Amino acid sequence: MENQVEQENTELPFVREQHANLLLNLDKTLDSDAIGQYTNEHLKLPGGYWCLGALYLLNKVPQSRQQEISQFIKACQHECGGFGGNIGHDPGLVNTLYALLILAMYDSLESVDLEKMATYIASLQNEDGSFKGDYAGEVDTRFSYSALSALKLLGKLDLIDRKKARDFVLRCHNIDGAFGGVPGAESHAAYTFCSIGALKILDDEDLIDRDKLGAWLSKRQTLQGGFNGRPEKLPDVCYSWWILSTCFMIERQQWIDFAGLKDYVLNCQDPENGGIGDRPGNEVDVFHTFFGLTALSLMGFYDLEKIDHVYAIPVKVIQKHFPHIYN
Ligand code: FPP
Ligand code: ZN
Repeated sequence: MENQVEQENTELPFVREQHANLLLNLDKTLDSDAIGQYTNEHLKLPGGYWCLGALYLLNKVPQSRQQEISQFIKACQHECGGFGGNIGHDPGLVNTLYALLILAMYDSLESVDLEKMATYIASLQNEDGSFKGDYAGEVDTRFSYSALSALKLLGKLDLIDRKKARDFVLRCHNIDGAFGGVPGAESHAAYTFCSIGALKILDDEDLIDRDKLGAWLSKRQTLQGGFNGRPEKLPDVCYSWWILSTCFMIERQQWIDFAGLKDYVLNCQDPENGGIGDRPGNEVDVFHTFFGLTALSLMGFYDLEKIDHVYAIPVKVIQKHFPHIYN
């Protein structure tokens, strides 16, 4: 139904149809700053992942575009096996993960060379177990998570040194129970997601103190219901995902006030035009729209498609294309 709103024991509406309309028309809204900055030239693959992921959760994947999009992604793959963020852009690890996730959501994994993809990812591991984001060499746990997620989905973890990968992540563990992006860096919720995701993929999550981390994560929930990414910072919708998914990974989700978080996400919607922003009243963008929806999905609201809290794609997609993950 056009512009239908949904209420679930709250005064705040969930504007499902408006979100779907906005996402389905993103290509036409490139001139809008808020949305455009996430779908612009170098962000085609990240923008595509957030947009398609959001549409999948809403059960609105445009099947008519499957071929066009899988051909586009194929054209982003380089001879080395890695993917750029757009055709002709340099390859990088995170975009390579996004390519894999998009193709899986579009049932199009056969359109690219997955063997080469895995070889490329493994080639980015350093001697100390960390991963480079690309051949330029930047290192942090975003790249550890991206490499481990992609290789585990592909069934290719044996291409890397798993113990060294784990040891690097553990070196980013801080006294407060959470993780920074590199050894010695301040704890940060999004890097904590990457670290726990990496450990979980390696079956090493028991090495950390779940109660201590759960306490740090649950303290990120502010009086407004939303989470901040570090102490003393303002809440932001994207941390609804980074924190809640991590709580699920360490089985401390019961320490979170779901109703408060839901209301915060709903408050960040643009009720007329759809989309979700980082804070109430701010411009919406596809990044925060995706992560707002993923949080609502994790909490089981509005009958959204269920998302996997480690791999950030729908459970259904994992069951279909990567059944070894749940077996
Ligand atoms: C915060 O970014 C986010 C991170 C540091 C984590 C990014 C994780 C990946 C790229 C791995 C792939 C992720 C998925 C879900 C498949 P920010 O720069 O917005 O942080 P800020 O709030 O401190 O500015
Ligand atoms: Zn944010």
